[in-house]
Parts: sequence; structure tokens; C-alpha cells
Amino acid sequence: MLYIGIDLGTSAVKLLLMDGEGKILNVVSREYPLIFPHPGWSEQDPDAWIRETMTGILQLTEGFDKSQVAGIGAGGQMHGLVVLDENDQVIRPAILWNDGRTSAEVDYINSGIGKDKVSAWTANIAFAGFTAPKLLWMRKNEPDKFARIRKIMLPKDYVNYRLSGVHCTDYSDASGMLLLDVKNKCWAKEMLDICGVTEEQMPKLYESYEPVGKILPEVAEKLGLSEDVIIAAGAGDNAAAAVGTGTVGEGACNISLGTSGTIFISSEKFGVDENNALHSFAHADGNYHLMGVVLSAASCNKWWMEDILKTGNFSEEQADILPEKLGRNHVFFLPYLMGERSPINDTNARGTFIGMSMDNTRADLTQAVLEGVAFAIRDSLEVARGLGIDIRKSRICGGGAKSPLWRKIFANVCNLEIESIAAEEGPGYGGAMLAMVACGEYPDVKTIADKFVRVTKTEKPDPELAALYEDRYQRFREIYPSVKDLFPKLIG
Ligand code: XUL
Repeated sequence: MLYIGIDLGTSAVKLLLMDGEGKILNVVSREYPLIFPHPGWSEQDPDAWIRETMTGILQLTEGFDKSQVAGIGAGGQMHGLVVLDENDQVIRPAILWNDGRTSAEVDYINSGIGKDKVSAWTANIAFAGFTAPKLLWMRKNEPDKFARIRKIMLPKDYVNYRLSGVHCTDYSDASGMLLLDVKNKCWAKEMLDICGVTEEQMPKLYESYEPVGKILPEVAEKLGLSEDVIIAAGAGDNAAAAVGTGTVGEGACNISLGTSGTIFISSEKFGVDENNALHSFAHADGNYHLMGVVLSAASCNKWWMEDILKTGNFSEEQADILPEKLGRNHVFFLPYLMGERSPINDTNARGTFIGMSMDNTRADLTQAVLEGVAFAIRDSLEVARGLGIDIRKSRICGGGAKSPLWRKIFANVCNLEIESIAAEEGPGYGGAMLAMVACGEYPDVKTIADKFVRVTKTEKPDPELAALYEDRYQRFREIYPSVKDLFPKLIG
């Protein structure tokens, strides 16, 4: 049989077709625009997701025996607010995970209501980009539209709804709404009340590997697929990527370098760090995870290459970074181009180059961008290490993970063995694996991950270089606290 994995990303939907042995038969990527209606805001048209997903599935399955497609599973960009009216029509563009408009609402939740209470109810505190503060923003700024809300969904849930007709979500993605009692896996009544919504407006909760239903007959017909295709609940993109890289069970780690950068630590036990610096979410394997999120990761490099240096040749630029320069760069870059989530939780933070002198080259600045993202991820790694979690190695995935230089920088900045895996399509691969479990091909996520995921390369830290980077990291840590108070004044 065949399985379709959907990675509903921020810049594109990436689809893959997988056979029953985990072999990728085809991949298709279809882009859609991001809308920035104001500086720091970030929106997208949910219908563009559907359009490109449908066209993408048609392209993906062309030339294959479509009757063999048994299941579809999606991993999707998290936290995005999708609101539907009584006719299941989208009320407004989705407000995305990297949208920073809700600082007043975040303050209200964290200070007005209080972090302790919110953490006790949901296992998390508010961050701009989470779904609950967006509901408060909508209630205040768009009361007429807010009054029309009948269903609240996350991005991949809207795709699943259009495929299956079921208003559903899964625990991993729902964790990022700040409306879920993560530990007990049910809606947090107190938070629903605070946001002025009811449980009827929320989608039905499933484990990621559970089937939510079958494909709608009219959709099956349009796609040329069988009406028996099973739609899995799917997962937030980071949990799906973790499944796709085999980051399941106790204490496994995955770094994802996509538009955002994340460090994901899976756990069989529920846990929260004292300051809620890391997100405490449900995992797609039925357990839990901790996660630190850098809002701009591969997107910093893309911005630097394409928008500033005006080049599409990333590897040629990186070839100018000489090995002897690693660990010795005195230019630093704060990667906070869209504000920052973990661990500083500051929507006003901005990208910053610091430490340049006349001898610096274009390559030094490129190096600083790659290093800045690695240092920012290490900030979250340090929080996890502070909890006593012993992390010595990590899998890596996402577009940025294709760069051998960036993998080397990560290995030495974080002092971790960095493992690349055969299938680089993290969330899409994980989505297809979840579909296989939903179809009953495998009893659970751990079993399929053990069978399918294969490490192909390991980048080991070099003790001398790691020591140089340790010093650089300690310098990096001093920069944000020194310039932090300037950012709101610069923004005006
Ligand atoms: C996770 C997060 C991002 C998005 C990117 O909390 O906000 O990683 O999921 O798609």
C-alpha cells in the first residue's frame, strides 16, 4: 500500500509518497505566500493551503497506482489561528505562529492572570504566537468577526477537515494553543473561559496516530483516490518531524532547522521547567516532550543570502568560510528577526550584528548568521541541561540541516553528536508514518520509528573547536541582556 505525508509549512506544503517499507517514492513542494499586513504580523490564506495541497496530491500520485493509497497523515505549522463560521467558511486569514501582535494579550495572561495559574492549567505560559492570546486579540480588535466563530482550528486541522469533513485536532498540536490541559489531555476550561470560547467551538481531540475518519467521497473523486483512504489526526510539525527522525521514547533529541529552529526532547513522563522557558507539550507517540523554539532559523540564512547578499547559491557562500575561522569569529549575530520565543520570550527583540571591524569580510557575516542561530538553540539546550536531562546527541532535520558546515557548527556549539538520517523530510515522513499506524499497519509509533529511521552520518564535536565555541557562546550570552532595553525604543 501507499501513504501520503503532508508537511504544511510556512512557505510551502511539502508532500511525499511512501511505500509500505518506508521508501520515499515521490516528493512535491508547492509554495504559497506569507502576508505581513504590519511589521511583526504574519498571516496566511487557509484556502491557499487547500489549493496547493490538492494540486500537490495530484502531482504526487501521477504515474502511481492511486488505488493503492491507503492513508494520509499531516504535520503542520503550529499555533496558527484558523476560525470558521457557522457554514464552515474561513472568517479571516490565519494568524500564524510567528506573528508578534499579541504582546498586550501575552502580558495580560502572564501577569494579569498569572503565570503560575496558567502553567498549572496548561503546563505552559503565554508566548506571542500561541493561539489563546490571538483569540483575545480578535475579541478586542475584531469583535464582529469573533462573534461569528463556530469552530477554532489549527492549520493542519483545517486541511484534515477539508479532506475528511471532521473538526479534529491532535494532542501535540493542541498543546500549543494554551487551551489544552497538556498533562491530562483535555481542554483547559479556565483558559477557554478567559478567551471567551466554549468547548463546542473546539475541535475533537485525538492521538496523532489515530484515524479521524475517511476521505470525503467528493474529495476522493477529485484526487482519483479510493473512498477508503484513512485520514490520520497528524501532529504539529515538530512532533511529526520527531517521529520522522525517530525522536521518540525517553530522552531522545531532535534539532529542526526550518523557517523556525527547534530543539525537541522526547520524554515518557510529563514535565515542566520551573520558568516555563521550554514548551511542555504532548508528543505524537502518545507521550510528552519539551521544546525550545527559535522563531527565525533557516529563515535568517535565507534572508541574509537572498534578500541582503542577493544570491541563491548558499553553498558557494559557505565555501568561503575557512575552517580556521570556526570558533574564532568576533562578529556575532542575534537571530531575532521576528522577535524571539525561547527562552527570552521577547516580541521586541530584533536581529543584530555586533563586533564588526574593518578586516571583516562577507564570509565572516555569513558565518555569524549560522553561528547566531546555533547559539540561540543552545540557549534552550542549556535550560534542558539545567533540568538534569543528559543530552549527548541529537538528530537533525529541516532545510538548514542539508549544510555540512551548519551541522559542524551545531555539533561544536552545542557539544553534541549530530546525526543525519536517511529521510530528510522530517514532518512529511513522520506524517506518512502516523498514517501507517492509523491504518493499522504498525501497532505504535515507536515500532515503526525503530523499523524505518536510519542514521546515515554523525558529526562528532571536536574537543578543541567545542572549547573555542564555548568561549564564543559565553560572549553571545552577554549580548542580548546588554541591548534588550534598546529594542522597544528602536521600534518606536
Ligand atoms: C513551534 C513553532 C514553529 C512552527 C513552525 O512552537 O512555533 O516551529 O511550528 O512551523
